[in-house]
Amino acid sequence: MVAEGLRKRFDKRWALDGFDLAVPAGTVCGLLGPNGAGKTTAVRILATLLRLDGGRAEVAGHDVAREAPAVRRQVALNGQQSTVDDVLTGRENLVMWGRLYHLTRRQAEARADELLEQFGLTGAADKRAKHYSGGMRRRLDLASSFIMRPSVLFLDEPTTGLDPRNRGEVWREVKRVVAEGTTVLLTTQYLDEADQLADQVVVLDTGRVAAQGTPDELKSKLGGDRIEVVVRDAVELPLVADVLGPDAEVDPDAFRVSAAVTDRVAALTRVASALAAKGVEAEDIALRRPTLDEVFLAITGHRAEARA
Ligand SMILES: Nc1ncnc2c1ncn2[C@@H]1O[C@H](COP(=O)(O)OP(=O)(O)OP(=O)(O)O)[C@@H](O)[C@H]1O
Ligand SMILES: [Mg+2]
Repeated sequence: MVAEGLRKRFDKRWALDGFDLAVPAGTVCGLLGPNGAGKTTAVRILATLLRLDGGRAEVAGHDVAREAPAVRRQVALNGQQSTVDDVLTGRENLVMWGRLYHLTRRQAEARADELLEQFGLTGAADKRAKHYSGGMRRRLDLASSFIMRPSVLFLDEPTTGLDPRNRGEVWREVKRVVAEGTTVLLTTQYLDEADQLADQVVVLDTGRVAAQGTPDELKSKLGGDRIEVVVRDAVELPLVADVLGPDAEVDPDAFRVSAAVTDRVAALTRVASALAAKGVEAEDIALRRPTLDEVFLAITGHRAEARA
């Protein structure tokens, strides 16, 4: 999948303003960005649901503008809105989708059973979807995308609103379909989701690519995780700063000192014993992953909200 200089305008605003992308077949690209960055617009253009105003894109070997029907036969889009019908059972949902894709009833039923099995829903096949957990519902949604065996799958914020356990379930299914050879473009607002799933991450900022690389490359750019030490008494702040090293940031109002670390748990132990050796009694010592805001600030030099 390739995009070059994609542009899309809504009224007078450019939602995409020269967007480039290259996703090798069989890999996962994570499109990361805050609200309004243009993620959904990019996905909808690549899935041929929106017309582009400039640039070109090829998906599954076909041009999205000139060969839209050929693209459509090979892609599936899982949008921010669920397509699951609550009053139907899991199996009925899938059969209905199969029928919409012009399968015969018998074909649709056979495909539904295969998909229920693959997505771990056989046991819940005859329950109404309204009784499904968030993760099961999302898996049913994903299963419905696979009725026509797409070679390219677009996932628009696949786990937004799910609790951690349900997110894990969805991640497992995405990994499974990727292992079977599907190319995936997924949008997300979560760095850890991109980290879990993506071979390559593209950071979008107001319609343009602000940064890209592997999750590890982006994290090392950001200095990775941070360790934070909170003390009870401000006089201890310089002692903590000493332990955390030359890059330590001191926040005197919060009685907190923080610094980037690369070795996580080992860093916790190292810092805890160094503090004990100096007689500093910390109120709290914690590891924290960079937030999306910090990623944004580091990459673009401005906060996400300022231009959203
Ligand atoms: N149909 C539309 N009409 C007018 N403006 C639109 C339309 N769709 C999107 N936009 C605007 O284009 C910009 C990009 O929107 P888009 O939905 O692609 O962002 P997003 O990154 O998917 O955001 P979110 O995280 O909220 O889903 C926003 O400023 C949005 O308001
Ligand atoms: Mg969106």
